[in-house]
Amino acid sequence: MTALWVTLALVATVALLLRWQRPAWYWMSFGVLFAVVRVLVRYSSVMDACGLTVPPPRWRLALARMTGRPVPDSKAPRILRLRPTRTGLVLRVKLRPGQDAFDFSAASDRLRHSFVMRNVTTREIRSGVVELRMTGYDVLKRVQMPARPGGGVMRVPVAMREDGEVYYRDYRQVPHALNVGATQSGKSVYQRNLVAALAGLNVALVGIDCKQGVELAPLARRFSALADNPDNAADLLDSLVEHMHDVYQLIRREQRLSADTPDAEITADIWDLPDGLRPTPIVLMVDEVAELALFATKDEEKRRDRIITSLVRLAQLGRAAGIYLEICGQRFGSELGKGITMLRAQLTGRTAHRVNDETSANMAFGDIAPDAVLATVQIPTDRPGTAVVGDSSGGWVRIRTPHLTLRRAVNLCNAHASRTPEIPALDAFRPVLPSLAKTPAAAASTVPVTA
Ligand SMILES: Nc1ncnc2c1ncn2[C@@H]1O[C@H](COP(=O)(O)OP(=O)(O)OP(=O)(O)O)[C@@H](O)[C@H]1O
Ligand SMILES: [Mg+2]
Repeated sequence: MTALWVTLALVATVALLLRWQRPAWYWMSFGVLFAVVRVLVRYSSVMDACGLTVPPPRWRLALARMTGRPVPDSKAPRILRLRPTRTGLVLRVKLRPGQDAFDFSAASDRLRHSFVMRNVTTREIRSGVVELRMTGYDVLKRVQMPARPGGGVMRVPVAMREDGEVYYRDYRQVPHALNVGATQSGKSVYQRNLVAALAGLNVALVGIDCKQGVELAPLARRFSALADNPDNAADLLDSLVEHMHDVYQLIRREQRLSADTPDAEITADIWDLPDGLRPTPIVLMVDEVAELALFATKDEEKRRDRIITSLVRLAQLGRAAGIYLEICGQRFGSELGKGITMLRAQLTGRTAHRVNDETSANMAFGDIAPDAVLATVQIPTDRPGTAVVGDSSGGWVRIRTPHLTLRRAVNLCNAHASRTPEIPALDAFRPVLPSLAKTPAAAASTVPVTA
């Protein structure tokens, strides 16, 4: 008997320790079981308390009256499926007549408390079926991406969503994106995660980092072209526009439109070209974009106009040529001068890290998802890397990137260095790299010079 009590006490202590220190492990070992039992046992009463039941139909009331039976209870939505996941539970319910998906989204906070879960989000799967995604612990506190997050052609996992799902950056669906946030909010770490995720794909990375390259230069082995000051950036963007025109020429040549060409062989972008002919898609990463738009002299103003014009052209025409833009900056509004709002209008994907004022959040979401603005301003300072992402469909969600250190990102880029494609038009901007192995000359140059 004593042995049983000791074992139980030991198990309880382990569970409490895990819950405190390793909530993800606690969830997978104990939490999921407790949560499934809790949801199934409390389901009807919680639905009733949250106002998500419907009264019985009239014919059943009449039947009960006629037969003298007790009045039937209100009905809760029928459970279609309850599926545990590595971060929570997914509950799919069939709505009763008269209910709608909005009832559930409005009650999500009440459901969260009633089922003792960390977060509940709802979405309509199809007419009459609503899915409740619940997380068992704070998944954004210590982000742990799944070992095999999946992905696809130009679709890479970057961060964890607050509903426990992986957030993917899908370039073919959302070609260009804007990423704003105050200083130290986690923009560069987000970009680093993107580079690391793209490193293993068949894609060319082109970088513009006007902080003298401190963020992107260490990852240079996986970059086909890099510019670390506005002058180089202007030339690099001109060459990229030229490359875009070359790709369009190639697509034109391959179209060969005639009456007997099958529909499937007519192409208007690189993805329909045969594998052997398809140019490598390019992702252009711009960090600290404001540096490209600021000027003090007449010459700098001319350079700025050149840069913004090239960026606007790439944003407007680049997608079909397989050129995708990823633009990061602390602010990205009309105060940066003409052309900026035109460029912003082409950046469909919006990510906003913590900002200090509503105006900055408005630059990302004001024109697409006004309620995301409030969520952005509320991101706490002690959670760098947390962001709100939205798209032009008006939806938004909170995400947080895993804290990928620069060293790990460098190692990943070096490991995939052999994948770095050469883009002839951008050859002049290929980063000059020291060899990985220390040459005698390099070793000699590191000997301290003494007087
Ligand atoms: N996902 C994350 N998890 C934990 N810490 C993070 C995360 N993202 C960023 N940080 C921390 O925040 C610091 C600042 O991040 P980062 O350099 O990405 O900010 P930034 O927005 O690019 O700032 P700046 O505009 O000054 O360049 C990082 O050094 C890191 O310590
Ligand atoms: Mg930065």
